Amino acid sequence: MKLLENKVAVVTGASRGIGEAIALKFAEQGANVAFTYLSSDEKAKALEAKLTALGVKAKAYKSNAAVYEETETLIADVLKEFGKIDICVNNAGISKDNLLLRLSPDQWDEVMDVNLKSVYNMTKQVIRPMMKAKTGSIINMSSVIGIMGNAGQSSYAASKAGIIGFTKSIAQELGSRNIRCNAVAPGFIETDMTSYLKDGEGASAYIQQIPLARFGTPEDIANVCLFLASDMSSYVTGQTISACGGLCM
Ligand code: NAI
Repeated sequence: MKLLENKVAVVTGASRGIGEAIALKFAEQGANVAFTYLSSDEKAKALEAKLTALGVKAKAYKSNAAVYEETETLIADVLKEFGKIDICVNNAGISKDNLLLRLSPDQWDEVMDVNLKSVYNMTKQVIRPMMKAKTGSIINMSSVIGIMGNAGQSSYAASKAGIIGFTKSIAQELGSRNIRCNAVAPGFIETDMTSYLKDGEGASAYIQQIPLARFGTPEDIANVCLFLASDMSSYVTGQTISACGGLCM
């Protein structure tokens, strides 16, 4: 028995990295998947084909999660096409690292809009159909940096810490409607976002701080999301699960 049979999931920012791994994992477990991307039509089409080959319905939507009106249109289109939304993974995110002395207002705003406002935008859109259906699982991608902080990442850390507060509040607002809302806090995961860490001397210095002595893979994070999306986590809400090889404990 597949864990997400007949469920419909929306995943933002899924044309690569962690989002792509989540879309694939969910489809392997029987979910129909609507996913968003921003730039690469080619990558989006390729993922759509991979998901469809797993025997589920899948569709790519070009949609900027940071823009409220775009998420409004997106969710209306997904509901028309898929009929319902059981799971929403707010994965899209960016980092624009800079020491505060050099961090411009525009850089601050961009990170806040893409990382935090996007979570408000998407969650606001999906809760209505979830309330009607009296079921739903919302998963927000935070980061260990939102818990620990990091020099040079004040905007990123603030946005990811904001997600944790938002997650707890939504869990309290919507628990009685059987809608769960949790966050995942990955550590260092091997994707384009962290490619600059992988090589050279820097990499071993990072790995020394990680009890499991390796960077994580996108699949490590997708597995945690699968747990939170499925009924395996039916009594879990308002939590932030760190998946960081023990870096943050
Ligand atoms: P990535 O840079 O490889 O992928 C991010 C995806 O989000 C891309 O597909 C990109 O097109 C999309 N995206 C960016 N802005 C968007 C927007 N406004 N609307 C829609 N899509 C947008 O990054 P990665 O590593 O896969 O990260 C995914 C999430 O996990 C992010 O929220 C990130 O902050 C978080 N995370 C990643 C960690 C890592 O070590 N890679 C660690 C902790 C958290």
